[in-house]
Amino acid sequence: MYNPNTTIKQNPIILGIESSCDETAAAVICGRKLLSSEIISSATEQAKYGGVVPEIASRAHTDAVDEVVRRALNSANVKITELDAVAVTYGAGLLGALLVGLSFAKSLAYALNIPLIAVNHIRGHMAAAYLQDETLKPPFITLLASGGHTAVLHTQSYSGFEVLGGTCDDAAGEAFDKVARVLGLEYPGGVNVERLAKDGKNIIVFPQSLVKNSEKLQFSYSGLKTAVINYCHNAEQKGEKINPCDVACSFQHAAVDPLVKKTVESAKKLGAGTVTAGGGVIANGYLRETLSAGCEKAGLKLILPEKKYCTDNAAMIAAEGLIQYSSGNFADMSLNAKAHIPLK
Ligand code: KG4
Ligand code: ZN
Repeated sequence: MYNPNTTIKQNPIILGIESSCDETAAAVICGRKLLSSEIISSATEQAKYGGVVPEIASRAHTDAVDEVVRRALNSANVKITELDAVAVTYGAGLLGALLVGLSFAKSLAYALNIPLIAVNHIRGHMAAAYLQDETLKPPFITLLASGGHTAVLHTQSYSGFEVLGGTCDDAAGEAFDKVARVLGLEYPGGVNVERLAKDGKNIIVFPQSLVKNSEKLQFSYSGLKTAVINYCHNAEQKGEKINPCDVACSFQHAAVDPLVKKTVESAKKLGAGTVTAGGGVIANGYLRETLSAGCEKAGLKLILPEKKYCTDNAAMIAAEGLIQYSSGNFADMSLNAKAHIPLK
């Protein structure tokens, strides 16, 4: 619970809880050291419906939240009474889903009389890199690409960042999911597009995800998505067969190449020596390879969280919780869930 007299420890033990979509997750950190990260996912159940059904997600979180927290404490070998704070995602996400994790975290913080920390999910994705490299310090350039966001950021301090450019329509992850649906692939779409793309050989020219001749850096995924849909529908109308691997591979190139190119260019332009990345799309193998190669060629240090810390998890929520803990930024019991929170 909020207490103005809370002593701020150097290496606090923080429990992170995440329930914004279809993953119920809990993790424990001690300072920047990750002690455990557990996930119970309802993705298989959601796949039957072709996407996340909010009601099913909320019920699955209710079933799983107690168990996932117990698992996280057990595998961290931490007693519940040893926790110094509870950090929880309060948005953005599905309201009913968020409320499960949030109510659980509030009860825990109240019962243990420890601070409650409100974490913006997307700030969690940005903070995942701090656990990957315990010595990482701002400033650096961050490539953020998830189901709801796509942006290149200049992270200037632990709490401050500038948006160098973002998408003017769909997010990269959203485009991966829509292309997956057009290709008849199961939910979750992004990883299945990546699987097909591995066998693609012939590149089809689709529009790149970059707005050309724009004064500021801007990405766009709606034109690319529509081009892929039209390509598939035109072939269907003519009774022609498409090669799904070629389509997936060509889409992946058009979606990812501008993100990588502009991230590296931004780092060079601003003289930032380090690049980090976060969000579900950063789990994409092709993106990881090209970003690594691009950073190496430009002499930039790349801190890339492991794939399991790019997609939704609670380790990143605890990591962002630590940043807020360190500046005594605690929430009180009136904290409520928010479906939308602007990036800035
Ligand atoms: O960060 P995340 O798990 O949830 C949000 O905060 O949105 O991101 C989910 C998005 C989905 O759109 C999913 O298709 C995409 O990340 N994604 C991928 C891959 N894994 C997840 N996209 C491309 N390749 C992947 N391997
Ligand atoms: Zn996410």
